[in-house]
Amino acid sequence: MFSSSLAIPVFLLLTFIYIISIFLRSNNHNENAHKRPPGPLALPIIGNLHLLGTLPHRNLQSLANKYGPIMSLRLGQVPAIVVSSPEAAELFLKTHDPVFANRFQTQVTDYLFYGSKGLGFSDYGSYWRAMKKLSVQHLLSASNQELIGHVRWEELKMVVKSLEKAAKMGEIVDVSKKVHGLLEDIVYKIILGRNKDDQFDLKGLISETLRLGGVFNLADVLPFLAALDLQGLKKRCKEISRVLDQLFEKIIKEHEEALNTHKDGKREDFIGILVSLMHQPNDDEQNYQITRDDIKANVLSLISGAYETSAVAVEWTMSELLRNPRVMKNLQNELETVIGMNRMVEETDLSKLNYLNLVVMESLRLHPVVALIPREPAKDFMVDEYYIEKNSRILVNLWAIGRNPQVWSDNAEMFYPERFLNSDIDIHGHDSQFFPFGSGRRKCPGMQMGLTTVKFVMAQLVHCFNWELPFGMKTDDLDMTESFGLSLPRSKHLSAMVTNRLSKVYHE
Ligand code: HEM
Repeated sequence: MFSSSLAIPVFLLLTFIYIISIFLRSNNHNENAHKRPPGPLALPIIGNLHLLGTLPHRNLQSLANKYGPIMSLRLGQVPAIVVSSPEAAELFLKTHDPVFANRFQTQVTDYLFYGSKGLGFSDYGSYWRAMKKLSVQHLLSASNQELIGHVRWEELKMVVKSLEKAAKMGEIVDVSKKVHGLLEDIVYKIILGRNKDDQFDLKGLISETLRLGGVFNLADVLPFLAALDLQGLKKRCKEISRVLDQLFEKIIKEHEEALNTHKDGKREDFIGILVSLMHQPNDDEQNYQITRDDIKANVLSLISGAYETSAVAVEWTMSELLRNPRVMKNLQNELETVIGMNRMVEETDLSKLNYLNLVVMESLRLHPVVALIPREPAKDFMVDEYYIEKNSRILVNLWAIGRNPQVWSDNAEMFYPERFLNSDIDIHGHDSQFFPFGSGRRKCPGMQMGLTTVKFVMAQLVHCFNWELPFGMKTDDLDMTESFGLSLPRSKHLSAMVTNRLSKVYHE
């Protein structure tokens, strides 16, 4: 058609017209009958990607101060809505909860979670309900917490012993490493029945899965780049999912063999329960027949939900106590009064530790483990006067809501647990100014397990030991920056000096 000398200019001209048309379309919100929420001007191709930075929750907070609590962005080619006030969160997570109860799925969740199966990433509907029912009934309900309490106790006792040794030697403790290691061991034992494997690097595989889950993947928002795999994520996901699948297959087979040899069907871990259900004939009560892929995806979903979240919550709470000796002292006084100095804390003591409860709430307000709650609308929908497209990414900025001075007064940035004293605000997601476990249908199903674990670990660490920042560091010098991913951990490990507080060893 064209001579070769014309082909390049014509191609460039057509590309230019295409880019300009997308640019005009994406910035033409208000003249459109479908009015989108206000937001910053979107650039061609990348949209507003350049505004996210490495700490998107902070940058989105600044943008929301300018554009409002329901803000429209374009992430590459994907529309996004950022929700940043209690009133707006109420609209998305409560008033219109059924419409916004889907999660957006990504290339990584498709590869690692068997086509985005399991509880965390599947769309709201009958499959999701079946996964939730199985998970709550056999792992997350209150009655299960009593059954799995002994795992927490045994693992925590080992950490206490190792800290006593560190105290004796005057060592500086890498608190972050200790806490993450402890939570890994607790969660893997409860869910998989083991915390290591003689053939596979169990911990390495799962931590790489969590890392990949938190990487911002350009291919999700600029689909024309997907085939190029510029970040190498597709390749890495394929490698990891292949090995992880072999590990899960091995664990499932071992449980199947155990079922065949012990016909009593005795089991003590979650994956074993799912395996036995897979081999039971379908009946009315269990009307979804669970498959091998469902087991693998759901187990991975629950591990992703359970381990890092609880570890990050403990890490931040410990950081705040080290920065706030007044609060540390109050908490130790409560422990001394309720528990006494002659024994370790037991899980049954937790309900009597009111100040501990306030401390954990305050820590989750300032350091929500999930900074941006991800949702997706099931259909095109109007929220107030705004039109929200079906495939939009909804991001509820929990971090911004937790630090809003209009909600929490001028001392919003201060760690002050007493703000929850005599207040009606609870932690269960009923209040739209404070919902660290989310709200509505997709609210965290592991709240009970998460809270029990975080409080138990915190109570034990603070009761058994005295803690101080190392090298004479001043409280204000402690680096409190975050690192954004699937969760929001500290960017730098927390280190501290530890000394024994109880005069005798009580855990033998
Ligand atoms: C301190 C601990 C924890 C915190 C702060 C936390 C927070 C959250 C948040 C904010 C969500 C999103 C909720 C929403 O969309 O409204 C969530 C979802 C989820 N959490 Fe947790 N979580 C914690 C512990 C756990 C534990 C221990 C488990 C499981 C054993 C767990 C499993 C899950 C799962 C499976 C989902 C997805 C639910 C769904 O999509 O239906 N979480 N969590």
